[in-house]
Amino acid sequence: MRHLLSAADLSRAEAIEILDTTATMAATQSREIKKLPALRGLTVVNLFFEDSTRTRISFEAAAKRLSADVINFSAKGSSVSKGESLKDTALTLAAMGADAVVIRHQASGAPHRLATSGWVRTPVVNAGDGMHQHPTQALLDAFTMRRHLAGGGDAGPDGVGRDLAGAKVVIVGDVLHSRVARSNVDLLHTLGADVTLVAPPTLLPVGVHTWPCAVSYDLDATIADVRPDAIMMLRVQRERMSSAGGGFFPSPMEYSRRYGLDGTRLAALPEHCVVMHPGPMNRGLEISAKAADSPRSTIVEQVANGVAVRMAVLYLLLAGGTETEGSR
Ligand code: CP
Repeated sequence: MRHLLSAADLSRAEAIEILDTTATMAATQSREIKKLPALRGLTVVNLFFEDSTRTRISFEAAAKRLSADVINFSAKGSSVSKGESLKDTALTLAAMGADAVVIRHQASGAPHRLATSGWVRTPVVNAGDGMHQHPTQALLDAFTMRRHLAGGGDAGPDGVGRDLAGAKVVIVGDVLHSRVARSNVDLLHTLGADVTLVAPPTLLPVGVHTWPCAVSYDLDATIADVRPDAIMMLRVQRERMSSAGGGFFPSPMEYSRRYGLDGTRLAALPEHCVVMHPGPMNRGLEISAKAADSPRSTIVEQVANGVAVRMAVLYLLLAGGTETEGSR
């Protein structure tokens, strides 16, 4: 594996290899000493041009737990405010001896540009670009689902070696602005899951009917018809809506009433169905506190699994593994 730019670049075998490596990494995280020597002497640069809590911290924790040195770069407070380009920032970091670059950027395609420009010769990991892709989020979501849905038997509690064939996953909300939805549809399809997207028509992208999933405008009907194994609520990305002049739904109350996961809808889900959210959440809008804090919520577990997934990705990129499509 040379880079991780898009969930769509991963084959079924490559995705399962990352999930299985994640299971190995996760097992080390319950030990008293969590640190492994695998990346000792290497430097990982976290290049964040857009705000982040979970992804930034978990990439830092992952690199440190593999004994790498970490340089954190945040566009806020840097020379980006003086007009420095992505190219010059990248050249500066390369000169400082980066061995891998993790990049979050508000522009879709920035990680691909960095990986293919020749400005850096290191592996590049996409930590979320614009409305395009967030592959490590999709991997941690798939790992969490596999633990709950495909574990047990010979596969062990983490479902090692297995895909998600036959799992029914419903993804609800602001699909239009969501790199998490795009990445999850790509990866879940590769892993054999059946995905249904639910959103108001105004929050679905043009061309969504060509994606490898079903599409619905009606959450209650979908819960009743699909009987999902996992339901993933998406954040309503109000910051992207206000810059477009708003008007995507009549009011937050109307949105919540039709598409929010409230107590009634929570009770209508099959008993085994897990409730997921990538975070950060708008409590009371796309998800009620009752749903977010319920015993079937995996939201905190997703954050913990994010560290193990990112350990696996950094390990496979820097210490060996297979090639993804995006690296060829
Ligand atoms: N899920 C996610 O990407 O969260 P952050 O924006 O906090 O990194």
